Amino acid sequence: MGTGHGYGKTILFGEHFVVYGIPAIASALGSKTIATVQVVDGQGWSVDDQRPATPGYKEKKYDEAQQAIKNVIEHLKIDTSSKKLEITFSGDLYAASGVGGSAAQCAALSHALNDEFNLNLQMEQINNSAYEGEKGYHGTPSGLDNTAATYGGLIWFKRGLYGSPNTIKRLQTVKKMYMVIANTGLTASTSEVIADVRRLKEEKSEDIEPVFEEYGKLVKNARSALIEGDISAVGNLMNRNHSLLQDITVSGEINDLLVDLARKNGALGAKMTGTGRGGLVLALAADEVKQEQIATAIEQEGYMVWKTKVG
Ligand code: MEV
Repeated sequence: MGTGHGYGKTILFGEHFVVYGIPAIASALGSKTIATVQVVDGQGWSVDDQRPATPGYKEKKYDEAQQAIKNVIEHLKIDTSSKKLEITFSGDLYAASGVGGSAAQCAALSHALNDEFNLNLQMEQINNSAYEGEKGYHGTPSGLDNTAATYGGLIWFKRGLYGSPNTIKRLQTVKKMYMVIANTGLTASTSEVIADVRRLKEEKSEDIEPVFEEYGKLVKNARSALIEGDISAVGNLMNRNHSLLQDITVSGEINDLLVDLARKNGALGAKMTGTGRGGLVLALAADEVKQEQIATAIEQEGYMVWKTKVG
């Protein structure tokens, strides 16, 4: 039996902007999706998805997940005409919109197939395979999610446009940062939200271009603040990044509500993270005590939260 894992991720800066070749910063989470692959008699493949998930998430993403798995199997040239693959997904990563569940699944499957069929793939090839899988979820992935899912750690990622290679750099912070991740419980379609941004960019370019320009400067400051461990600057930049995401219409009412709640309860900064219009919200806390305070306040309003450290 082959096994493999992929990390969950949270985007600290740059969802959506990253699609257009502007850098983003993401951090892997401690939680992982684990894939196993067993070869049995028969043809094709079957999936037993045991991942914990937001209610409705797996149903909504079912067809996309099937396509993603097919993409990975085909990309790695695994012939299933005379053997059947029994694939399972499990692990402690809670599959929810915004946590990189799809990318973690694709990276985990790529590792597991590599293990089962002794493909001797390098990490870069695993990452490429996870990227092909991600295309099943949405047609134009930037590559950020699969990169964080495959490599782990804190990552500076710039998508290479027009066939040029992506830039991937590991960042080191001087101190860990306490984060709270809040789950709105809603799942949006990444491809639909991305298409809306593209339309907005085309139809209202005069309004939208300055937003993209500001984000381009913001992410460089964010990188310095993270490296220096200046958490108050990181928080302010997260707040500003959230406003820019509102400007491009990807934050939903529920995201804004949870962002406000986190800020009112002491967050140094808060923003939506991932696709938006639901999914997750990320809040930065000064220390463990504040982290607990923010998490409790959000939980008391009936939302699921996770506490994590990044950096
Ligand atoms: C989704 O987690 C992040 C997006 O920027 C899409 C992508 O980067 O592929 C919305």
